[in-house]
Amino acid sequence: AIERTISIIKPDAVGKDVIGEIYSRFEKGGLKIIAAKMKHLSKADAEGFYAVHKERPFFGDLVEFMTSGPVMIQVLEGEDAVSKNRELMGATNPAEADAGTIRADFAQSIDENAVHGSDSLENAQIETDYFFSADEICPRTR
Ligand code: CMP
Repeated sequence: AIERTISIIKPDAVGKDVIGEIYSRFEKGGLKIIAAKMKHLSKADAEGFYAVHKERPFFGDLVEFMTSGPVMIQVLEGEDAVSKNRELMGATNPAEADAGTIRADFAQSIDENAVHGSDSLENAQIETDYFFSADEICPRTR
């Protein structure tokens, strides 16, 4: 089915100037960008977005990293978008990511792993609502 998912290009990848290369992978993979914004997340933004991880030992480092520079946030739309985006990203730990995936090519560690993608359709909706209002989503007309 046609789905929507959230993608975040993290501060490490923005800093390496690979936004365009990552966008190409989405577009070549059949995922259309239907909303996008660059944002330097505040501590409260990052803590709220990753609230599900707040008891994990890596939470403090995660929030520090995600606020270390701007991120690029986009809504992707396409067939099976949630799983397709995860396939394009590769495993969370780049050391385990398949060759040719975004994380294998652009990430350096599990902490600085270039991209985030929603892990389910339900979370995709929650994460979309966290960053975008309805009028910021631009479904294609051509
Ligand atoms: P992301 O998909 O953005 O969701 C939470 C992030 O925490 C994850 O990517 C990783 O970058 C980071 N992280 C650091 N350590 C771990 C870990 N042990 N398990 C899962 N995520 C981790």
